[in-house]
Amino acid sequence: MGVAEQFTESHTPLRIQVRKFDPAATDSAPKYFFDNDPFKTHFMNALSILFPEGERFFIRSVLAYRDQISDPKLLKEIKEFCAQEAQHTLVHEAMNELAARHGYPVAALEGLVRRDLRRFSKRGVKHASARRAALAMTVCVEHLTAILAYQVLTNASATMQGLDPAVQALFKWHALEETEHKGVAFDVYQATGGSPFFLRFAMVLSSFFFLLGLFINLTVLLYKDGSLWKWSTWKSGLQFTFGPRQGFLTRPFRDWLAFFKPGFHPWKQHRDLDIDNHAGQLGAYIA
Ligand SMILES: [Fe+2]
Ligand SMILES: [Fe+2]
Repeated sequence: MGVAEQFTESHTPLRIQVRKFDPAATDSAPKYFFDNDPFKTHFMNALSILFPEGERFFIRSVLAYRDQISDPKLLKEIKEFCAQEAQHTLVHEAMNELAARHGYPVAALEGLVRRDLRRFSKRGVKHASARRAALAMTVCVEHLTAILAYQVLTNASATMQGLDPAVQALFKWHALEETEHKGVAFDVYQATGGSPFFLRFAMVLSSFFFLLGLFINLTVLLYKDGSLWKWSTWKSGLQFTFGPRQGFLTRPFRDWLAFFKPGFHPWKQHRDLDIDNHAGQLGAYIA
């Protein structure tokens, strides 16, 4: 697929579909829903706690540029992007409720993300540079979610084995929709004249803050659990996240690096993924 470094139209090669996932699906998941393992469970909780406010921020950041888009296909995809992210927000909030019911300080952790990202968006209303930075950060974190999504969908034996079926379905649903809309924020950034060099700089910062947020959430959840200082927690946890071949965060490293190549576009990666097949497996959980 030839994608030029600068363009003004959509490069999404498929139709983005908005599916409604049953928010009550994870209600009966056990406290340690991932392999009865505190680290793996709280790794997923830590991610889920980042999502609702993060996705509201992505919606605000993309909508701030809607008026500058002329391609009708891209305008329609912006709508679908927002509708998908709004659904993810609702369903992850329901999942986070489950952790809150088990006594974890979910509201406080979500509050931290909310405070920082709302402040960022507010600055964007007044200052064009902050508006551009918010969109660049959205493009970058959308790339992070797309490459993690690819792992969830294609490497289930390492990323999902032992995960409660309802939580697994939730993450798979989210992963396939992240794949469908992975080019939207990128296309908006390019169509509105965003600099490719600034985007690369933003990727380094965004990755740092994404991992920092994940680490803070994970540490607080494990501390509250009484598992933070146990060697057994970290032994399984480090293998799960940083294992040299199958680690949740190490395996997508090459996909992350690809972002820095000249002429990169999200749809130059992973075009082999059979989204319809994955969507078909979610049947019972789609409301
Ligand atoms: Fe999402
Ligand atoms: Fe997304």
